[in-house]
Amino acid sequence: MMILLAVQVFKLNAHATDAVATCRIFQTEGRWLLGRVVVAKEQRGTGLGTRLMRAVHAYLRMRGVDRLQCHAQLSAKPFYEKLGYETNGDPFDEGGIQHVLMVKSLR
Ligand SMILES: CC(C)(COP(=O)(O)OP(=O)(O)OC[C@H]1O[C@@H](n2cnc3c(N)ncnc32)[C@H](O)[C@@H]1OP(=O)(O)O)[C@@H](O)C(=O)NCCC(=O)NCCS
Repeated sequence: MMILLAVQVFKLNAHATDAVATCRIFQTEGRWLLGRVVVAKEQRGTGLGTRLMRAVHAYLRMRGVDRLQCHAQLSAKPFYEKLGYETNGDPFDEGGIQHVLMVKSLR
C-alpha cells in the first residue's frame, strides 16, 4: 500500500470563509511535485497566483528543497515561465488535457 502525504496551501479571503487561491505540493520518488493550482475566477490576473507560488517556493527553500516539478496544463505554461519554470520534454495527455513537465530551480 502506498501512502501519499501532501501539503495543501490556501490563501483565504478577508473573512476567512473561502479559499481564493490554492495548490498542493507533495513528495514522490524523491522529487517534489506541485499541482491543483487554482485562483478564484474573479481574482485571476491580480497577481494572487504569483504570490501563492512565491510562498510555496520560499517554504520549500526553507526546507532545503532545491527544485520543484509541475505537470502544467499547456494553457498555463506562460504563467509558470514567468515564475522561472522551464519546460522539460514534450506535451502529454493527462485526463484528456494537454500537459507539460515544468521544473523550477529553487537555488
Ligand atoms: C493559472 C492561474 C493559477 C494563474 O493565477 P493568476 O492569479 O491569474 O496569475 P497572476 O495574476 O499571478 O499572473 C501572473 C502572470 O502570468 C500570466 N498568466 C496567468 N495565467 C495565465 C494563463 N492561463 N495563460 C497565460 N498567461 C497567464 C498573467 O497574465 C501574468 O502576466 P504579467 O505578469 O505579464 O501580467 C489562474 O489563472 C487559474 O486558476 N487558472 C485556472 C486553473 C489553471 O489553469 N491552473 C493551472 C493548472 S496547471
